[in-house]
Amino acid sequence: MDILAIESSCDETAAALVRDGRTVLSSAVASSSALHERYGGIVPEIAAREQLAYLYPVIREALRGVGNIPVADAMSSSVDAIAVSAGPGLIGSLLIGVEGAKTLSFVTGKPLIPVNHVLAHMYANFLDGPQHVPVSFPAISLVVSGGHTELFLMKNERSLAWLGGTLDDAAGEAFDKSARLLGFGSRGGVAIQESASTIRDPRTAHAILRLPRPMMHDDTLNFSFSGLKTAISREWAKHDHTPEVTAAFAFEIQDAVTDVLVAKTLTAASMHNAQSVLVSGGVAANTMLRVKFSEKLSDPEWGGVTLHIPEVRFCTDNAAYIGSYAFFRGTAGSWRDVNAVPDMSVEVTG
Ligand code: KG4
Ligand code: ZN
Repeated sequence: MDILAIESSCDETAAALVRDGRTVLSSAVASSSALHERYGGIVPEIAAREQLAYLYPVIREALRGVGNIPVADAMSSSVDAIAVSAGPGLIGSLLIGVEGAKTLSFVTGKPLIPVNHVLAHMYANFLDGPQHVPVSFPAISLVVSGGHTELFLMKNERSLAWLGGTLDDAAGEAFDKSARLLGFGSRGGVAIQESASTIRDPRTAHAILRLPRPMMHDDTLNFSFSGLKTAISREWAKHDHTPEVTAAFAFEIQDAVTDVLVAKTLTAASMHNAQSVLVSGGVAANTMLRVKFSEKLSDPEWGGVTLHIPEVRFCTDNAAYIGSYAFFRGTAGSWRDVNAVPDMSVEVTG
């Protein structure tokens, strides 16, 4: 089954063609992030206006995956269903993708599958790729994005149960807010990672500051990152902001956030006897997080538990995992029943 998937929940506009939930035939992503840089964060109206301009070009590019034929021909010959991110996300942004997908469904007669963007992130781990190994169940799945930090238990490809999430800020939000404080504007976690990578020896950073690891060892599967933000601001006010100090902060922020993410996920994995651990979402692009997970899970104590983290390009927002989720867990129906739901819940069971 070939699904044309569309994603426009935040500041990316993306389309992909995905076969049987696993094979990415094509994937196109356009971002308006550079336009938001001078405002220090995403401006929803700018994101939506750009998405209106990008939507058709990304769909056309994704459909080129089946050959350089007109869009209408590609739709009728090579697409079995259309999938779209229906929430959660920014209302103006979601509306562009959802109304575009509904129109395509109406004119082509292809069924439409609404997709929960946050749950879909984890399906990036089901996409074929050079490193791909089949996922064994039960699996613990951590989704870490700009607005979400959530843990799920997966009993099979279709069955998801929410275990816990952040009580306040998401991990990505902690990176984004810290990046702004450190003077990196809206470049978020990527800028923190770049600056942190100049620290060769962790002791150099730790000599400058130590941050708390909130809720790391409590007995819930919830997270909290807003106290960390307060601690960072307090420490920042105590120092001169030289390049060395900035890099030390970036390093320790990254170290603290990733320590908590890894510890909580492994607590969930041992509570549920997981056979594998899945990590996904924009923050899963973070090298320190990837290295910590892989080092921990290669310890004999975790023998037999496999780690799955998507290629970096499938961690941040794109439409390939939307198509995968739609195949494994979506329900195809009429465009008439699909609406944008900005506050769509991720606390699913079953
Ligand atoms: O999944 P995503 O692209 O969009 C949402 O659905 O939110 O995630 C975006 C988040 C942002 O907070 C961004 O700062 C973070 O992912 N991010 C990173 C890295 N790349 C993106 N955080 C840490 N390290 C990275 N390399
Ligand atoms: Zn996302």
